[in-house]
Amino acid sequence: MILVTGGAGFIGSNFVLDWLAEHDEPVVNLDALTYAGNLNNLRSLESDPRHIFVHGNIGNAALLSDLFARYKPRAVVNFAAESHVDRSIHGPEDFIQTNILGTFRLLEAARAYWGGLESKHDFRFLHVSTDEVFGTLDADDPAFNEETSYRPNSPYSASKAASDHLVRAYFHTYGLPVVTTNCSNNYGPLHFPEKLIPLVIHNALKGRPLPIYGDGMQIRDWLYVKDHCSAIRRVLEAGRLGETYNIGGWNERANLHVVTTLCAVLDELQPRPDGKKYSEQIAFVTDRPGHDRRYAIDARKIEAELGWRPAETFESGIRKTVRWYLANADWVENVTSGSYRNWVEKQYA
Ligand code: NAD
Ligand code: DAU
Repeated sequence: MILVTGGAGFIGSNFVLDWLAEHDEPVVNLDALTYAGNLNNLRSLESDPRHIFVHGNIGNAALLSDLFARYKPRAVVNFAAESHVDRSIHGPEDFIQTNILGTFRLLEAARAYWGGLESKHDFRFLHVSTDEVFGTLDADDPAFNEETSYRPNSPYSASKAASDHLVRAYFHTYGLPVVTTNCSNNYGPLHFPEKLIPLVIHNALKGRPLPIYGDGMQIRDWLYVKDHCSAIRRVLEAGRLGETYNIGGWNERANLHVVTTLCAVLDELQPRPDGKKYSEQIAFVTDRPGHDRRYAIDARKIEAELGWRPAETFESGIRKTVRWYLANADWVENVTSGSYRNWVEKQYA
């Protein structure tokens, strides 16, 4: 079996669902169920014996040691993290605890377990990281590749960079069979509505302002989450040990373009009752401190070595995403209650 951490979050739950749709290999899913973890994402697996959910923290060394001994996973896929840049600006502490110390504890537990294995080469520790560790690009800079230096600019990206360095060090120092992926912005089903795309869909349907930071000309490279999941499966299967692989969608878009596209798709699929355009709800708000201007991923290495390319274009993926949110209003209602409301009041005050 494989051990997935953070498998109740956005990407992790998509990964677990896709994995079990494609394999019979069981998954032990360790998740602390922070505000971002949601067992509703995995409801379809409730009575599936291939999914073993464990409520716990990747920083808990005793729990990790017990899980490795009990389940003897052949691989770890580490999604668990604090993931929202704006939250890292308001309060970096949790990011340091989970992204740095948590990854360290997970590496230590994996190393102790792996040290006792007979076929050490078959084990894998796949660490899921981000393109934000590379910092920001100017409009005409080449896209990030695997040789680009790390220049993180937010507490979130700095904590992810630290975890990436630890993973690298465990390969070079101890020989732990690791591989790291650096991915661009994901979007799709089960995305928590604190992030741009689900926030805009949710606010649009509620008749609320659609907040655009600064001038809205910051660029992200959007990747449909199912494509990210297929890339991770491929890297787990055939990625070279100690290597890093950049994963991107070849979909650079300015935020304003993303928001106006969402508005246009909503105008078509669920027009406003008053006949007006959703784009009338767009509101320019104070910029994010230290806001990175542009991310872009050069994903040629994973394509050349492992034959992976994304299946979705931005246009096809965004349409699927809007349809999913329209069909899953219950899911959104469920996650937008409680602490989420407090966050929105604090962030957009
Ligand atoms: P998310 O915030 O939606 O989910 C994170 C999950 O981790 C939640 O289920 C949460 O409960 C769990 N978690 C948090 N702290 C934990 C801890 N200490 N122990 C165990 N579980 C814990 O995040 P996401 O968007 O799904 O991102 C998953 C991973 O992918 C992260 O490592 C993130 O840095 C990386 N990543 C995300 C994106 C993106 O666009 N969302 C892009 C590139 C990389
Ligand atoms: O690049 C990969 C990263 O993508 C991941 O590592 C992070 O975990 C993930 O959260 C995401 O980070 P971003 O900061 O790029 O995503 P977010 O959805 O928060 O913002 C996308 C862009 O939209 C960014 O330029 C900020 C802007 N934005 C965001 C929000 C929430 C707005 O203009 N208004 C908003 O209300």
